[in-house]
Amino acid sequence: MIILGLEGTAHTISCGIVEMYRDKVKILSNKKKMITTKEGGLTPTQIGEHHAEHIKHITETALKESKTSVKDIDLISYSHGPGFGNGLNIVNIFAKTLSKKFSIPVIGVHHGAAHILIAKYLLNIRDAIYLYVSGGNTQIISLEKNTRFYVYGETEDIAIGNALDKLARSLGYGFPGGKIIEELAKKGSYFNMPYTVKGMDIALSGILTFAINSIGKHRKEDIAFSFQEHAFAMITETLERAMAYTNKKEVCVVGGVALNNRLQEMVRIMAEQRDAKYHRLDKEFLGDNGAMIAVAGYHYYKYGFKGDVFKAKIKSRWRIEDAFNLE
Ligand code: ATP
Ligand code: FE2
Repeated sequence: MIILGLEGTAHTISCGIVEMYRDKVKILSNKKKMITTKEGGLTPTQIGEHHAEHIKHITETALKESKTSVKDIDLISYSHGPGFGNGLNIVNIFAKTLSKKFSIPVIGVHHGAAHILIAKYLLNIRDAIYLYVSGGNTQIISLEKNTRFYVYGETEDIAIGNALDKLARSLGYGFPGGKIIEELAKKGSYFNMPYTVKGMDIALSGILTFAINSIGKHRKEDIAFSFQEHAFAMITETLERAMAYTNKKEVCVVGGVALNNRLQEMVRIMAEQRDAKYHRLDKEFLGDNGAMIAVAGYHYYKYGFKGDVFKAKIKSRWRIEDAFNLE
């Protein structure tokens, strides 16, 4: 079956087209357009305007590249939430309009579930602990019986991606900040920062404030390096605890912050020490993208989670434990 997936919860508007056959994924196309800034963050208005401007063209380009026409599409899938209302509305209306116009079934999916499901299907993962790290999330998750996400641990305050973006902003850089911090960290050395682990949860606002207050007292590179070393070690420690608790033998990092090589390295070393299988997803599918929404649409369809999307309103807030409940 061929699925067209539309993503637009935050900074990126994207359309992916995938072909699924017996749970095997063939990516036919995955076109994205992301907002970046030289300085400062993003506003919801900017996000809405950006997605409205580019959604049609991105979809046409994805269709062209996949060598399919709308008539070949068996299912349309779109990110129904969580995220910024302005972006969600655009994608929601566009997906439903396409569905009505060409009489194609449509499914709304959970954005975080999609980050995980693309890894599961592309890498053939059976029973893993997933670390979902992004702009809005820092969660340790498993998928049980293909029908329920379980959260073992998470951040008590801000997400790691958001913390990296804020730190970059405070240092005078733009969005996305995670990549800039990673670059700076390559030339940095270590100094002590707060380290807050509470069971399988962590808190990041203390270390972020500390890092921001270090500006002017330490080199940018040292702040970036020390922040990464502490924050990623906190995350990896709780991830290991969840693996020990659940006795799961597979691990995979997903979401935009999984683009970070140092975080991936820490998780890989931890997995090796536990004789667990470390999966690494190709970087094209880590940040927000339409292909992940398409694969999630397939999973929802396969397990019968359809919901009446024409009745369902966008969900700006939506916990992953409720991912299969659209209403
Ligand atoms: P969510 O999935 O919570 O809705 P999101 O939609 O904001 O998050 P993603 O594309 O999943 O977006 O993740 C974006 C985040 O990834 C940003 O915070 C960005 O700074 C971070 N990021 C991107 N590249 C890197 C990198 N190399 N190292 C660390 N973080 C990175
Ligand atoms: Fe995301």
